[in-house]
Amino acid sequence: MTSRSDYALRDRVAGELQRARARTVQLTDAVDDADLTRQHSPLMSPLVWDLAHVANQEELWLLRDVGGRDAVRADIDELYDAFKHSRSDRPALPLLPPEEARRYVHQVRDKVLDLVDVVALEGRPLLDNAFAFGMIVQHEQQHDETMLATHQLRAGDPVLAAPPPPRASAPVGGEVAVPGGAFTMGTSTEPWALDNERPAHQASVAAFWIDATPVTNRQFAEFIADGGYIHRRWWSEPGWRHRTQAQLSAPVHWQQDGGNWLATSFGRRAPIEPDAPVVHVCYYEAEAYAAWAGKRLPTEVEWERAARFDPATRRSRRYPWGDEDPQPYHANLGQRHLAPAQVGAYPRGASALGVHQLIGDVWEWTSSAFAGYPGFRAFPYREYSEVFFDGPYRVLRGGSFGTDAAACRATFRNWDYPIRRQIFSGFRCARDRLPDET
Ligand code: AVJ
Ligand code: FE
Repeated sequence: MTSRSDYALRDRVAGELQRARARTVQLTDAVDDADLTRQHSPLMSPLVWDLAHVANQEELWLLRDVGGRDAVRADIDELYDAFKHSRSDRPALPLLPPEEARRYVHQVRDKVLDLVDVVALEGRPLLDNAFAFGMIVQHEQQHDETMLATHQLRAGDPVLAAPPPPRASAPVGGEVAVPGGAFTMGTSTEPWALDNERPAHQASVAAFWIDATPVTNRQFAEFIADGGYIHRRWWSEPGWRHRTQAQLSAPVHWQQDGGNWLATSFGRRAPIEPDAPVVHVCYYEAEAYAAWAGKRLPTEVEWERAARFDPATRRSRRYPWGDEDPQPYHANLGQRHLAPAQVGAYPRGASALGVHQLIGDVWEWTSSAFAGYPGFRAFPYREYSEVFFDGPYRVLRGGSFGTDAAACRATFRNWDYPIRRQIFSGFRCARDRLPDET
């Protein structure tokens, strides 16, 4: 059965695959072969590994599984299996050299685009709403964000450029009162939502305050100036241990210049933008700042309540601003800019309760460990989410300036070790609120 909407879905799939690929090509063509194969940081894969890994996942899921096609390259699956080799070990592997990787990427995509035209989009859960294709689109976009983080760790002259983010026309700050109560968390209806976002379920929260914006560079610099990294009292036990052992004294990429702070961003050193969210802080730094401010980090449930709950309808929205897909005026997403925007720059993206910039700019640390929702079922593979549940990981929400809209929703869940700060991570604070306190 082919219907008009079936054609529209195939068109959308082809368009999203193409958009992700344009970004991958931009990120990998920006550097020479030596830079593609080099290890820029032990925390990251060589860019050429991400490139061929993207194609290998596409081959495994779309060509071999969905399409039932023969292998394009049966000999390299092991090299590009993320669970077989750690990131730091990948540079030593016999990886496909850049030209061969590009040829492989191209061969796979050619066959996938043929498949998009003819595959029956029914009969298997993997095919409902073209889920497998949506998963692969998001996978490529996620690796594009990872490659962007690798670019940030790369030494040398700048190779990426983008127009600066919009500025705020009116200052935004302070706290927003979030009512307590029950609401729908997660989703069972969002077609391309990943397994860890499912199923929709009732969650409830006590009333709380949440910051209207992420914590800014100016605010974080005040914490540093007040001895934030020197006094043990703001830090948790594991946080202080890490701060001491890793000798943390400021966010990564910050350098003191007299009384001012400079930061290096994609090879360019400039004064920090005081009114933009702080980025590249680990969970422990976020936790310490919050304690210094007399606050705490929000739980994941609180973050989603603030982002999705509409008190007028009592419904949970797809995005803070409503159910409409993200537009450039809603949020700083998709690497359109290479930095977080000033707080207050996206008034049209605010939530029903008036919380700003929950989507885009910086990933926001929450105090919650990464775990499955009640009724969770791994789909289509345990290694996407389930193997990371109930471990040391903390959940981050909302996406960053480097996250594409295809891989970002108010239900989307990211996670990382609490010591990590190579990702585009920031945070906002929350605090308890008595139900009648306004
Ligand atoms: C969801 C961002 C933690 O990069 O490790 C990419 C996404 N999973 N390939 C990661 C992912 C498989 C994942 N994060
Ligand atoms: Fe991957």
